[in-house]
Amino acid sequence: MASVMSPAKESRVAVSATKLLINNRWVPSESGKTFATVNPSTGEEICQIAEADAADVDKAVNAARRAFEHGAWRKIPASERGRLLHRLADLIEKNADELAALESLDNGKPLSIAKAVDVAATVGCFRYFAGWSDKVHGKTIPVDGDFFCYTRHEPVGVVGQIIPWNFPMLMLAWKLAPALAMGNTVVMKPAEQTPLSALRIGELIVEAGFPEGVVNLLPGFGPTAGAAIARHMDVDKVAFTGSTEVGQLIMEAAAKSNLKRITLELGGKSPNIVFADTDLDEAVEGAHFGLFFNHGQCCCAGSRVFVEEKIYDQFVEKSGARARKRTVGDPFDPKTEQGPQVDQIQFDKVMGYIESGRDQGAKLVCGGDRVGDRGYFIQPTVFADVQDDMKISREEIFGPVMSIIPFKTADEVVTRANRTTYGLAAAVWTRDIKKAHAIANSVRAGTVWVNCYNVLDTRAPFGGFKQSGIGRELGEYGLQQYTEVKTVTVKL
Ligand code: NAI
Ligand code: MG
Repeated sequence: MASVMSPAKESRVAVSATKLLINNRWVPSESGKTFATVNPSTGEEICQIAEADAADVDKAVNAARRAFEHGAWRKIPASERGRLLHRLADLIEKNADELAALESLDNGKPLSIAKAVDVAATVGCFRYFAGWSDKVHGKTIPVDGDFFCYTRHEPVGVVGQIIPWNFPMLMLAWKLAPALAMGNTVVMKPAEQTPLSALRIGELIVEAGFPEGVVNLLPGFGPTAGAAIARHMDVDKVAFTGSTEVGQLIMEAAAKSNLKRITLELGGKSPNIVFADTDLDEAVEGAHFGLFFNHGQCCCAGSRVFVEEKIYDQFVEKSGARARKRTVGDPFDPKTEQGPQVDQIQFDKVMGYIESGRDQGAKLVCGGDRVGDRGYFIQPTVFADVQDDMKISREEIFGPVMSIIPFKTADEVVTRANRTTYGLAAAVWTRDIKKAHAIANSVRAGTVWVNCYNVLDTRAPFGGFKQSGIGRELGEYGLQQYTEVKTVTVKL
């Protein structure tokens, strides 16, 4: 059963990088300020980290601008950019154990998952985009008249990247790899909750041989360092992953400063639709994974599980039984499936949603309480008989709380699934191929899974409809967001 073990030996991983990386040098912040990064398993400080603010953003943007306009980066061939990215991927792989341990320590995710999912996907992402470095090119266009017309796909310039804490290392890779492959330079702000893996990768970036100023890392807070990036007049583009509220602030800052390009990957309230003709046990396990993976801290979490009436009671019973079996505890214990939520704020937010589910009359099938008396552990929680207008059915919870909702017909469930401001992901479980495609075509979401969940691949685009975001990351589509198209016309 759910219990918190004492920290295992492997959790004592040494932290080597705690400062800002600007122009390939590790420097304190201009203000001299530092902040604590906290171990969510205990609530205790791991170490102090240099805290970037507007003055540091200025320095980093200047370094990135110099690198972009005049530095070695500008002159190196596209194939060499690919080689550097491959070298970085190799170094990350070589240091996989250490990076996974840093991620578990700082974020709370199980060590086995940090290694098998986060580190592996990070390496895969750098390798995939390394390959693209010298494979993006323009067209020759048969314009009227005696002219030779062609397009060039050029880098956007200095890119600001602001990333969240749920997949600290992987979000770094999703942003950094395509930006560098296309020849941009980067000023990145890791999340204040989880700076450690990004800073360690910063050391590997220097070791791999990236020239000065190409990648600058600024740990710090959103309203200070993050906002300074978003409003900076010399940043050409901001790529952001996080809450919809902050996405709106970034769009506003971009509009009011220099019309910088933006890509936003925001929240979700994804429907997971289970028809009665599905393999029930597979759907139960799939829905469990779709919601509880990463402690529910996934933008694409299947947090509205719509289940056809005929199998509703059975599905609820089996889902409750599965959730009760989920092992919660020390991320360094190999038996652990679920560690702590990332911080006190997220813990309080999730517990607040559980309380609102109870107050608004949803039926608590299992969970509902914290685990242990220190750290931010929450029991896997399942609510049944959830109504569409309840808070837990409308708002992003970002925690281990499943809502199971009954439905009768396919038309009805599509209408209800789409009744949300979000549109990130959706899934459908059925043996009927017509039904599967009908749902895939009519749900307004950037990703639809059929008889599976959370299948993300660095080759396939990911992003949101509606208020879940703007633009796509990953795959060939993701490259477009890091290039400007230039038309060149030559009189013959
Ligand atoms: P957040 O949106 O505040 O933080 C994400 C990143 O944005 C962090 O690096 C943060 O420092 C930065 N940031 C915050 N305010 C900023 C500002 N004014 N200007 C520029 N950058 C800023 O999200 P937070 O507070 O960590 O979590 C709140 C909720 O957001 C979560 O409960 C969850 O619902 C959602 N969220 C969604 C994520 C996703 O993957 N789409 C990831 C993290 C959070
Ligand atoms: Mg932390």
